[in-house]
Amino acid sequence: MTDLSSLHDWRFSVDNEGIAWAVFDREGESANALGRRPLEELMIIVDRVEEGARSHELRGLVILSGKEKGFIVGADIREFDQLETESQVVEAIRPVNAMLDRIERLPIPVVAAIHGVCVGGGLELVLACHYRIATRDDSTRVGFPEVKLGIFPGFNGTARSIRQAGGPAAMQAMLSGSMIRASAARAMGLLDELVDSPGALRWAARKAVMQKRKSHPAPLAKAMLAKWPVRGFLARKMREAVARKAREDHYPAPYRLIDLFEQHGGSIEDLKRHETRLFAPLMVSDTSRNLRRVFRLSELLKGQAPKDIAFKPMRVHVIGAGTMGADIAGWCVANGMEVTLQDLNAELIDKGIKAQAKLFSRKFKTKAQRDAAKARLIADKDGTGIPRADVVIEAIVEKLEAKQGLFKGLEGRLKPGAVMATNTSSLQIEDIAQGLADPGRLIGIHFFNPVAQMPLVEVVRGKGSREEEVRKGAAFVTAIGKFPLITASAPGFLVNRVLAPYMMGAMVRVDQGQDKDKIDEAARAFGMPMGPVELADTVGLDVCAHVGKIMKLEADGSRLERLVASGRVGKKSGEGFYVWKDGKPVRSGKTFEKRELETLGRELVEPMIAEARKALDEHIVESADLVDAGVIFGTGFAPFRGGPLHYKASQSKAPITVTPAKAAE
Ligand code: NAI
Repeated sequence: MTDLSSLHDWRFSVDNEGIAWAVFDREGESANALGRRPLEELMIIVDRVEEGARSHELRGLVILSGKEKGFIVGADIREFDQLETESQVVEAIRPVNAMLDRIERLPIPVVAAIHGVCVGGGLELVLACHYRIATRDDSTRVGFPEVKLGIFPGFNGTARSIRQAGGPAAMQAMLSGSMIRASAARAMGLLDELVDSPGALRWAARKAVMQKRKSHPAPLAKAMLAKWPVRGFLARKMREAVARKAREDHYPAPYRLIDLFEQHGGSIEDLKRHETRLFAPLMVSDTSRNLRRVFRLSELLKGQAPKDIAFKPMRVHVIGAGTMGADIAGWCVANGMEVTLQDLNAELIDKGIKAQAKLFSRKFKTKAQRDAAKARLIADKDGTGIPRADVVIEAIVEKLEAKQGLFKGLEGRLKPGAVMATNTSSLQIEDIAQGLADPGRLIGIHFFNPVAQMPLVEVVRGKGSREEEVRKGAAFVTAIGKFPLITASAPGFLVNRVLAPYMMGAMVRVDQGQDKDKIDEAARAFGMPMGPVELADTVGLDVCAHVGKIMKLEADGSRLERLVASGRVGKKSGEGFYVWKDGKPVRSGKTFEKRELETLGRELVEPMIAEARKALDEHIVESADLVDAGVIFGTGFAPFRGGPLHYKASQSKAPITVTPAKAAE
């Protein structure tokens, strides 16, 4: 029964020219996700449009978004966990794909008018339309991020994107999961027409309906690659490229997608049918469940930033233009802030500023944007930016007296309400704050190295830090596009604390005569981005020894101690545990047995898991999920395993219990 009066997530109307307008505007949500209800409602709309087309009452259908910013953010990930078996997945997908086929078969023009993000299931929906118009706006992006969730497009997006863009380009989009600008998407054939502003969309859509415009699929030869040997060759190349980034046993989705393309890429109908068959097992796999969990954890971290806060940072002053300070300054600039950068002399500042050119050229496409960024990064030897800054971050040498002295001279110069923060990695916030007129103002904002690549920033609540300052710190971290993790002040905070015993444990094994190449390979086989010995060399063995001391983990007479004493501190000196050539460790080239590596890998992460557990018990962060989030985003802990505590709990099948916090005395 067609009932358009009870729609919650769509608005449907027919204008006096006979054009039906379906506006997706999910009730009670800031973004449009294609969950069960909006899909069911869309089916009702399709029923109605089919009737209207049959009776010649309607001459076209336009699909739009009612949200100001985004079009469709994809399928509703929150609903995925309800699907537990492959047959449930198949059952859930079948009616959606049938509906998309019906949209495609409508005898009147169906136009999608897109402004903002249109990804995943959203892109699959518009690919079933006959014609796609989008704004040229920078915020308008299309893409298939599914591989990041351990799946690939499941609403026949594999087939339709290959039909529109051809095999190589469509596969590249699906395998990379990257967001594609409107102009590039048009060049690929995923979009058909661009307009300058959201205001022009409706008019362009009306015209497209009136003129019965139709999208052109990619030329047949390119689209179908009907000859199997060609697909076989391409598939081999794709597998090689994927293998450089992700192992099949950890991340099977891209490999299954390549199988699908190789075996069935000669026919759109075959692709459609087999897509569901290969998709269903991925959807219910542990990998996908855990990657969805990682997505939720990233949302949880973003939620650490307060929303009800008037603090809107625009100006940042960074003191110390060394490894960290310069990169922090560059990152803030790349995220729209104006930054003054201070150090002891102009040469040091200059060097720090010059080092940001790479980041700016990566981040900004046009020269005008790069020039604007350069203009926002200001050398400031005398600290004239301090009284104007909304956030002041100290990143000078790791010496307590130096930092104490600096803040004493600084606090009177800050404007009221400005955040005062230290990037210390090993000192306690309350120690640095000693002697300040207002010690409650100081917080830690602890970035990780390399700043541009690490998504997490710890916001450290010193024993005396005021809550308001911590909240502002978290708001700042979010404003520069990082995930804030609020931690208590304790040695190593969260991330270094859990990393230290893992790395030290590996170094002890080397001391005991175990093969460092085997240790590193075992950690990678577990899913770590880098082995612990290579990581130690990369971080710098001097830094490791220092952290070890703070964590009371140092081992007298260890190889680590001897290497540091002899100046062989790792990558930066050309030798540590490894000899380094061209920025890479020289490996032995030995191969190891898979089972042995698996066992060793699990053993290697045990100290990390144990420390994560202790950190939870000591309430360094507020929940087990936040521990997992911090460790995944701060250390790269195998995302497909869902985090150290989640991994441990799933191994032992026991829930994670949390010791209640002690009542304040
Ligand atoms: P760095 O030695 O590369 O840079 C420190 C800079 O501060 C130097 O350029 C120095 O000239 C300058 N400086 C020293 N005293 C100063 C003063 N009074 N006024 C202005 N500038 C002054 O050190 P790095 O590695 O950048 O570390 C800085 C801080 O960041 C330390 O607290 C460290 O613990 C922390 N940190 C370091 C990480 C790393 O991987 N290097 C990671 C996270 C935090």
